[in-house]
Amino acid sequence: MEPARIQLVPKIRKVIYPGTFDPITNGHLDVIGRAADLFDEVIVALAMNSTKAPLFSELERIDLCKEAMKEVMPHSGHIRVDSFSGLLVDYAKKENAIAIIRGLRVLSDFEYEFQMALMNRKLEDITTVFVMPNEKYTYLNSTIIRELAKYGSDISGFVPECVNKKLKEKFSKK
Ligand code: COA
Repeated sequence: MEPARIQLVPKIRKVIYPGTFDPITNGHLDVIGRAADLFDEVIVALAMNSTKAPLFSELERIDLCKEAMKEVMPHSGHIRVDSFSGLLVDYAKKENAIAIIRGLRVLSDFEYEFQMALMNRKLEDITTVFVMPNEKYTYLNSTIIRELAKYGSDISGFVPECVNKKLKEKFSKK
């Protein structure tokens, strides 16, 4: 029988929550809050070399994440917003993180997430922890939010106020 795999983990249990966050939504914030309840430090890490073509610039996405944190979780000093380019596992190693956090909303997320988690584990032996957001956010994603905002739909229940405002500004200019 294989011996149990036990590793000595650093005293500060730091985790990375990576994503494109274009823009951050209440679903992401729900996952961040749950991770923050479990770990000593959570880094919300914006992937800069995403294969997507984001609506918001890197700086705008970072600012919106920071503003959203202030708005929704003002007393959560152990949550930090940062960005990275290159491989997630290299960033996680540099930060001395013990795990990667990913949200698992619906079954269709599973295949992609499973593939990423296994590849990241193969590359750097890092664990991915899956967090289930509140079910009222399971159908949310940033594309739907951008689309609703573009056509003037009310998205106030799905995003923090700073994101709602920024989306309105963005689409009123276009
Ligand atoms: N609530 C609402 N929406 C959520 C959500 C939640 N809890 N969790 C995910 N989503 C949405 C996102 O808004 C996003 O929507 P969109 O596709 O409409 O923009 C979608 O689900 C998935 O996006 P996200 O969680 O941001 O992941 P991603 O697939 O954009 O990012 C990275 C994946 C950045 C983590 C991954 O590509 C990566 O690690 N890149 C770095 C390079 C690397 O290491 N590659 C090798 C990986 S093995």
